[in-house]
Amino acid sequence: MTNKSATLNTGNGTIDLPILSGTVGPDVIDVRKLYGGTGMFTYDPGFTSTASCESKITYIDGDKGILLHRGYPIEQLAEKSNFMEVAYLLLHGELPTKEQYEQFRYTITRHTMVHEQLANFYRGFRRDAHPMAIMCGVVGALSAFYHDSTDINDPEQRKIASHRMIAKIPTIAAMAYKYSVGQPFQYPDNSLSYTGNFLKMTFAVPAEPYEVDPVVERALDRIFILHADHEQNASTSTVRLAGSSGANPFACIAAGIACLWGPAHGGANEAALNMLREIGTPSRIKEYIARAKDKNDPFRLMGFGHRVYKNYDPRAKVMQQTAKEVLERLNVKDPIFDVARELEHIALNDDYFIEKKLYPNVDFYSGIILNAIGFPTTMFTVLFALARTVGWVAQWNEMIEDPSQKIGRPRQLYVGATQRDYVDINQR
Ligand code: SDX
Repeated sequence: MTNKSATLNTGNGTIDLPILSGTVGPDVIDVRKLYGGTGMFTYDPGFTSTASCESKITYIDGDKGILLHRGYPIEQLAEKSNFMEVAYLLLHGELPTKEQYEQFRYTITRHTMVHEQLANFYRGFRRDAHPMAIMCGVVGALSAFYHDSTDINDPEQRKIASHRMIAKIPTIAAMAYKYSVGQPFQYPDNSLSYTGNFLKMTFAVPAEPYEVDPVVERALDRIFILHADHEQNASTSTVRLAGSSGANPFACIAAGIACLWGPAHGGANEAALNMLREIGTPSRIKEYIARAKDKNDPFRLMGFGHRVYKNYDPRAKVMQQTAKEVLERLNVKDPIFDVARELEHIALNDDYFIEKKLYPNVDFYSGIILNAIGFPTTMFTVLFALARTVGWVAQWNEMIEDPSQKIGRPRQLYVGATQRDYVDINQR
């Protein structure tokens, strides 16, 4: 922290507000005493200039296109690490030793099964229910099955709940897919990697053996790394706000899933592929670029733009390279990839996108890879939620362990009616 301060002149006097510095990134003006000292609130709809918490987990420099998890660049983690190791890093703050890694993998692997009665929840949904609707419902119900790990004040129960959530989310996600296609649920196979097990639970059928394709396993594991955590985004802030009331961790993760579903957030990967399919050929790109620039047209280029990145999203770069590799290795000729590359090229040379600093984000290329692997578009955000569960759990633990933590309760700028008396209906 520093001994710098900002002096605010409100017109009725001045107040000195401390300026706090982190290890890297923008300083913050500590406004905790503002209301007590001036009777005024800060006002920041969408929280474009607001830091909600202290955190050590993820650092983003939007202008430079930098993303660090516990200090390690996302490009290095995507190339050299694996999702289970990144999960350990996010939760514990350091890369694991071999022994720590094996112990963590063993623990997570032995929590992959879900209570057998949980399967009954799926049968209450229509077969054509969106898998994200199923995820919201089933994850929200987990506290009814694992009540012995919901006391958030007990560090041991927090640890078990964290492991259960990370271990079971692939099983729950694969079951949502199986239910939607009318195939039987597949039990976890603990001889496989976290990502290999998810692929088998999703695509294996009892009628024949299933072999995990190492190319697909590596690509999907890298996609999970790219989606693991991202500072205080909308869904992570939702998880923190829900957790600040003392709600159980399963309910908090369900709240995060609900928020992630929105097309402005995690739902953008599904929306981006649907948009690319609607464009169909490079010849129609200019028409959609014009629509994206038209103030009277609500259309936006899905997978483009970001609240924080005003440079290329570093995850999008890795995603584009992975898409190229997967399509080549699987010998998939997807014209949509060509449309995406051409759209990116045109947009990045268009004044509107340059001026507004709009670049492809993590959702622009991911759908092309997931489609090539065989996932339907309705599963794309489910996969985002699967990976982001690790980040949500890490952020939730950090919030609970923060001694200054208190229930989140924003105020407002009230612009409604001032006090007035009730009028009987016969006088209205
Ligand atoms: C994710 O926060 C995170 O970290 C999220 C995420 C994570 O890992 O958790 O990174 C994951 O959610 C990525 C973003 C996925 N969403 C999309 O791809 C949907 C399309 N993009 C947008 O809707 C938009 O860019 C947002 C929601 C991502 C960001 O919106 P902001 O920060 O509120 O910016 P804005 O809406 O104020 O836009 C600024 C300007 C506006 O023009 P003006 O009103 O200033 O004239 O840029 C324009 C917008 O109209 N603009 C776009 C655009 N995105 C912004 N114009 C056309 N196409 C777009 N995609």
